[in-house]
Amino acid sequence: MYQASIPITSEDFKAYYQLRFDVLRKPWNQPLGSEIDKDEDISHHAFIKYNDEVLAVCRMQLNTPEIAQLRYMAVSPSMQGKGLGKIIIQFLEEKSKEMGAEKVILHARENAVPFYQSCGYSIVEKSYLLFDEIQHYLMEKHVK
Ligand SMILES: CC(C)(COP(=O)(O)OP(=O)(O)OC[C@H]1O[C@@H](n2cnc3c(N)ncnc32)[C@H](O)[C@@H]1OP(=O)(O)O)[C@@H](O)C(=O)NCCC(=O)NCCS
Repeated sequence: MYQASIPITSEDFKAYYQLRFDVLRKPWNQPLGSEIDKDEDISHHAFIKYNDEVLAVCRMQLNTPEIAQLRYMAVSPSMQGKGLGKIIIQFLEEKSKEMGAEKVILHARENAVPFYQSCGYSIVEKSYLLFDEIQHYLMEKHVK
């Protein structure tokens, strides 16, 4: 029923960044604009849109030809725990494989570590602390 796809129109992108902001920035009182970084144009974006509503978003970038990184994974709060996160991760893993990546890495918020483990990722090491409170963990998955 739910399918991941690539945002295309400016309306798609507006809703895509809005969900990113609402889930990953607003609860920590971060300013509008803090959800966007300098690598958007060279990254690959994915979302799940259903009945004109954006329910999940994520971004993939190639750090090297062999290593892809997932960033800004967010599911609308009322839709969490229904399998949407897994659908969007699989979509971007396929995309990264098509592009030649052998490994996918990400920095997981502590609360999301069990989710990524259930998607096949392993913890490599403790990484950074965001907004002085959200511990992140570097995780990886071999895809080739
Ligand atoms: C973390 C997040 C992306 C997961 O997406 P989701 O759609 O809620 O997760 P799914 O429903 O696809 O879950 C997939 C699997 O992970 C498991 N899972 C998800 N969250 C879990 C948790 N907190 N603890 C244990 N298992 C969990 C599910 O049980 C499911 O397992 P299954 O496939 O064996 O049934 C989503 O909840 C979210 O946006 N959270 C807030 C923002 C955030 O933390 N983003 C991550 C930034 S690194």
